[in-house]
Amino acid sequence: MLVKDHVGLKEYNTFGIEAACRQWITGDDADELLEFVTARALKPGEVFVLGGGSNVLFTADFPGVILRPAMKECAVAGENATEVLVRTGAGVPWDDFVRWAVERGLGGVENLSLIPGHVGATPVQNIGAYGVEVGERVARVEAIDMLRGQKVAIDAETCRFGYRDSIFKGEWKDRFIITHVTYRLSKNPCLRLEYKGVREEVERLGEPSLALVRQAIIRIREHKLPDVKQLPNAGSFFKNPVVETALASRLLESFPDMPLYPAGEGRAKLAAGWLIEQAGWKGRSIGEAAVHDRQALVLVNKGKATGTAILHLANEVKKGVFMKFGVWLEPEVTIL
Ligand code: EPU
Repeated sequence: MLVKDHVGLKEYNTFGIEAACRQWITGDDADELLEFVTARALKPGEVFVLGGGSNVLFTADFPGVILRPAMKECAVAGENATEVLVRTGAGVPWDDFVRWAVERGLGGVENLSLIPGHVGATPVQNIGAYGVEVGERVARVEAIDMLRGQKVAIDAETCRFGYRDSIFKGEWKDRFIITHVTYRLSKNPCLRLEYKGVREEVERLGEPSLALVRQAIIRIREHKLPDVKQLPNAGSFFKNPVVETALASRLLESFPDMPLYPAGEGRAKLAAGWLIEQAGWKGRSIGEAAVHDRQALVLVNKGKATGTAILHLANEVKKGVFMKFGVWLEPEVTIL
């Protein structure tokens, strides 16, 4: 375990924001981390658990402890005729796990290829893309409960997965340090090609297979989403808003081309990227903070933006969308 005071965070957040924390802890031994948080009597809120730093915006120095789990194992933990359970350390880069699964012919996460971040963040955020959410594949989450000072195992149902949401963002926010996630993968994968554009891209590459789905998703993402190394960003900055169908129908009358997705009874999901583009914000910048020109949901740091500059831009975008559509966007990234 490594403990350091006053650590700069620029290389630990994909927005590339200059910020620092009071203390930095990283380790790959859950018992040691548990001992540390118990001995220090660290309270939820004093600790921020950081994974790949790909979904966070620092708007100031963090006055507490940043803890980065570094468990790196990836091993089969059980299987039956149709499925394999794979127990994975929180510190494994998510896409390394996806590649591992695809190389072994195990299906279920290939549509989530190339999503940045670490395994530990995937159930918190319930990461999703191209018609699949990770919650469908989570069997179990192992974590350190900072409130009770003990290790726990949490089943998928308890995680209360929703669209980019889980109990770890609500009732249990900041309470757990996720150390391992066990995923359920299929031995006989059923390819998921229904999301707009996926089937076409896969078929362009050849006979549909797990490997080609992964390759197609990578190509789609690389085409649309900016590379953090060239244009620092945190993926979608906003969530797609879920609204009452009555409001969605009213909007459709004025904007017949508006994309709309079903989102459970009486609700519909709008495409925030479309709303932002229609509100005239796609490709615009304020100083060093910009709305990406190929995917308006993504805010980028053109080089020297501060966290507050990005936040200011986000607020202007929100206002613009509200003025035109009467819908408030909510951030998807965690703002600290
Ligand atoms: N659209 C526009 N203009 C834009 C962006 C999108 O008109 O600038 C329209 C598209 O034409 C399409 C609709 O909006 O009709 C949806 O666009 P897209 O398929 O690109 O997906 P998204 O809803 O904008 C979500 C996720 C992405 C994920 C993609 C693909 C959220 C917040 N974002 O974006 O996730 O990759 O679907 O499944 O749900 C992320 O979370 O960081 C992320 C990138």
